[in-house]
Amino acid sequence: MPSFILNQRVVSTEESPGLVLLEFIRGTACLSGTKEACREGECGACTVLVGAKQADGSVAYKACASCLLPLGDVDGCHIVTVEGLIGEPLTLVQRLIVENSASQCGFCTPGIVLSLTGFCLGSSSLSYEEAINALDGNICRCTGYVSIRNAARALCEKLAGTTVVPSKRLDSLISSGVVPEYFRAIPDQLSELRSAPASCGKDAVFVAGGTDLFVQKPEQLMEKSLCFLSKRRDLDYVRVDGGRLRVGGAVTIEDFRNAAPVREHFPGLREDLLLHSSAILRNKATLAGNIVNASPIGDAAIILLALDAGLVITAAAGAKREVPLAKFYLGYKKTDLACGELVSEIVIPLLPAGARYHFEKVSNRATLDIAAVNTALRVTTGPDGVITGLILSAGGVGPTPLLVGGLEAFYGRKPDAVTVDAIARAAEAAAKPIDDIRGSAAYKKLLAGQLVRAHFAAPRGEAL
Ligand SMILES: Cc1cc2nc3c(=O)[nH]c(=O)nc-3n(C[C@H](O)[C@H](O)[C@H](O)COP(=O)(O)OP(=O)(O)OC[C@H]3O[C@@H](n4cnc5c(N)ncnc54)[C@H](O)[C@@H]3O)c2cc1C
Ligand code: FES
Ligand code: FES
Repeated sequence: MPSFILNQRVVSTEESPGLVLLEFIRGTACLSGTKEACREGECGACTVLVGAKQADGSVAYKACASCLLPLGDVDGCHIVTVEGLIGEPLTLVQRLIVENSASQCGFCTPGIVLSLTGFCLGSSSLSYEEAINALDGNICRCTGYVSIRNAARALCEKLAGTTVVPSKRLDSLISSGVVPEYFRAIPDQLSELRSAPASCGKDAVFVAGGTDLFVQKPEQLMEKSLCFLSKRRDLDYVRVDGGRLRVGGAVTIEDFRNAAPVREHFPGLREDLLLHSSAILRNKATLAGNIVNASPIGDAAIILLALDAGLVITAAAGAKREVPLAKFYLGYKKTDLACGELVSEIVIPLLPAGARYHFEKVSNRATLDIAAVNTALRVTTGPDGVITGLILSAGGVGPTPLLVGGLEAFYGRKPDAVTVDAIARAAEAAAKPIDDIRGSAAYKKLLAGQLVRAHFAAPRGEAL
């Protein structure tokens, strides 16, 4: 039976753990401030804050799309809707939205308030740039984004100098009027909740972020036994060990982007992964979910292929095996994963000396859009400047994420214009796209080559 705190009220419900939170908030709890529009994670109208208890006793808040968030996933959490921020006076975020005329019809406004409040509570820096990143999943159809950006800028100015040290942050945000006083008591109240143990039987469906599953088949999932990987603390880590980055199978894309070892060893990934969906989805969506859903254009899968990643796969009985990601995809949406097997770890070799990495994605919109074509490259050059290693991946050009073969032919050559052109033509030849709503086959084939040229044209070290 999922139990959580909804604003200030403890809730225990008999509803299915697979029911999405949005349905519960509006239908059962009758809180209509959280809006329903797309139900597919595309608009941000349903954004809420999910506060999860951390090992040190504090509560970490993230803005998430409640239309793709099953109740079982928020078991033991603090859920904040706009009603949980209502009071006298308005919160700082609400006041700045009013003062900057950043709301017109108001339909998107609760989501925007929650995303900005989540930014204040959770962002690694309280910069204007991060505030705008935090809003990349919130669509407004009438106010115009200039006034919303002005409200975000005013917020950052008001919060200049506010600490982001976790132990002091909440006190400071309560004093600034960003969140109400009652947040202070939430960690203790969460400790008193009786959470349901994770049900991970043999036939259970693994739910990681749910951002793919709950778009595809929300009704069927209400009838299934679900295993919520966000409850597996043992799968939530990013660490460097033996020259490899080791990433637990439940790490979210946003936590991965922000992890200290990723910033240190792969700083370009922080920017690249901003192109994956939007903040309210990245806060739940996982790297492993992106790999296992086997989309031919999954951004993380394409990046990890070029980085020569491998997977640790754990069977239900506990036996482990390792598979290179390059051998994981067997056909359209078919992987080398047997029933009940879990991707428990993703292993990424650190860049060898002389290597650089680069990612390109072409889509209709910069954020919240699936690629027409995406591609990543890891190229290694020796001290004499000749190519000693080349891995090139491409998505949207075949039934599975593609690893372009035969590139050893370019080893020993300098990456000059002639060589780059030949590599681009090899990528075009390997690409076998189809016509679809993201573009014609001819367009995508052309892109496969052009993006290789873009990889090599990127300033040296840009993405290192
Ligand atoms: C609006 C929207 C925008 C999107 N934009 C992008 C985008 O820009 N780029 C992109 O690549 N994708 C995008 N996606 C797709 C999706 O968000 C991503 O693929 C995401 O990374 C999936 O991860 P998840 O944790 O939510 O997976 P889930 O939905 O939880 O799971 C997906 C599948 O993987 C299985 N699974 C999950 N974790 C494991 C594990 N550890 N071991 C074994 N099986 C597992 C599940 O059982 C399920 O079959 C978008 C989705 C939406 C709704
Ligand atoms: S209703 Fe649009 S993101 Fe949830
Ligand atoms: S104020 Fe109308 S959609 Fe944003």
